[in-house]
This record gives sequence, C-alpha cells and structure tokens, in this order.
Amino acid sequence: MNDTAKTPIRLLVHGASGRMGQALLRLARERDDVRVVAAYSRSQPAQRVKDEVPQFAAAELGGAPDFDVAVDFSLPDGFDPVLALCAARGKALVSGTTGLSSAQNAAINDAAAGIAVVWAANYSLGVAVLTELVRRAAAALPGWDCDVVEAHHTRKLDAPSGTALHLGAAVAIGRGSEPHYASLRAGDIVGEHTVQFAAPGERLELIHRASNRDIFARGALEAAARVAQQAPGRYGLAELMFPNL
Ligand SMILES: NC(=O)c1ccc[n+]([C@@H]2O[C@H](COP(=O)([O-])OP(=O)(O)OC[C@H]3O[C@@H](n4cnc5c(N)ncnc54)[C@H](OP(=O)(O)O)[C@@H]3O)[C@@H](O)[C@H]2O)c1
Repeated sequence: MNDTAKTPIRLLVHGASGRMGQALLRLARERDDVRVVAAYSRSQPAQRVKDEVPQFAAAELGGAPDFDVAVDFSLPDGFDPVLALCAARGKALVSGTTGLSSAQNAAINDAAAGIAVVWAANYSLGVAVLTELVRRAAAALPGWDCDVVEAHHTRKLDAPSGTALHLGAAVAIGRGSEPHYASLRAGDIVGEHTVQFAAPGERLELIHRASNRDIFARGALEAAARVAQQAPGRYGLAELMFPNL
C-alpha cells in the first residue's frame, strides 16, 4: 500500500448538529479512511471544538478549512452555499438533503461540469442495489402487475415515501409505466419497501427492511470515501458504489 492510500479523506460535515450530522460524526470517528476536519450547523456552535472537530456556523462557510469532500445533510435553504463552496474550491459534494427545488437540482447538474457530486434521496446501500434489481425485473416483466408497498412509523407524514417513489421511477424506466403504491403507517417501523411483480399463478417480491437509521450515514461515508477519487460529474449512489452491477 502506498502513502497516498493511507491518508484519510478530509470531510466537511454540513448539518452537523442534526440527527444525520451527529450519526455522520459518530460513525466517521470509527473509521480510519476519513477524518472530519470541520462541522457546520446553521446556529453558532456552543463549543468551538468538540471531539477534536472544529465547529462552525453556516455563515462562516466561506472561510472553511481545506477539505476533500463535503457531506451535506441539512435543509434546502442551506444547500446553495455548500454547493457553491464545493464548486469554488473544486471539491466533491455528497448530499442527502431532501426537498431541493428544481432550480437546485439544475444547479447540481451545472456544478457537476467541474466537480464530482453525489445526491441521493436514500443512502442505504441495500436500497441502491434494490433499485437496480427492480429496474431489471421491470424490464423483464413488462406485462406483470407491479406494486410498491412501503411501511413506516406513525410520525412519518408523507406517503408514498420518497424511497417508494424512487423505486417507482426505476420501475417506470424498466417497463415504461408507473407501479401502484400502498403505504402503511404503524408503530416504530424504521422503513420497509416491497416491490411486487405479479402474474397469474406467480409473484416475485423484492424487499428491503431498514432497522437502524445509521445505514444512511454509513452509506454517505462510503460514498464520500469513493467519490474523492472520481472525475467531475453527477453520480447516483448505485453507479458510484456498484459500477459493475
Ligand atoms: N438521503 C438520505 O438517505 C437521508 C436520510 C435521512 C435524512 N435525510 C435528509 O437529511 C436532511 C437532514 O435530516 P436530519 O434528520 O438530520 O435533520 P435535522 O435533525 O433537522 O438537522 C438539520 C441540520 O441542518 C442544519 N441546517 C438547517 N438549516 C441550515 C442552513 N440554512 N444552513 C446550514 N445548516 C442548516 C441544522 O443546523 P441547526 O441545528 O443549527 O439548525 C442541523 O444541523 C433532511 O433534508 C432529511 O430529509 C436524508
């Protein structure tokens, strides 16, 4: 192994005080291939350094220390400055912030001419593989009934889930028409997605079950470690992590 391979990738975490940000910071501490060099939240930090990581307010983003990849799990109104920072510095961005506008989506495409950008609505590596399997099954079974059934905890307000719609888009790419959707809201279910293909006499079910929210932070860290070596462009999670799938 050469020295370059051992140098940790320097991460800037944006949205650090949030649920995802805290999981990213905790899981990054367990890895030796990445090192968080700056943590940004909207508010002024209570402590300037926490667990050896410098803490900043989003208003201070322009003076960010040097980094290799920014990992953003914030809110849509925080997204533009972190994309602009990455574009100006020529650094990669991994973002899971949801609810972006079509203008923000177009800005990702523009920025991808100069930097590597990964944006995904779901950073579970299992869902990334499921999406590709669903696309292929839909292409092979165009005449079958197709249903996407999702189950989440009772506090989740949107239905169908963003992941169900993402899987439905893969069905539509595969066979040219949308599936039907069904949603269950019950108990504390973290997230379950079933894509069912049915024909007279047989059913094919592809299922993903999430039992812990850490899977999203873990997938984002894997993507950050991988994207640091990539050429400029916009990458989906599956194509970045499983290019030979
Ligand atoms: N793609 C996926 O796999 C996935 C999985 C889970 C969540 N998400 C998405 O990730 C995002 C964060 O989720 P969460 O549950 O961690 O939310 P959260 O707990 O509400 O945390 C939001 C974080 O963003 C910061 N923030 C808010 N507005 C900002 C701004 N204008 N500039 C900079 N930072 C800002 C907040 O800072 P303050 O605390 O200072 O306000 C906080 O650190 C959401 O968009 C959510 O939908 C995506």
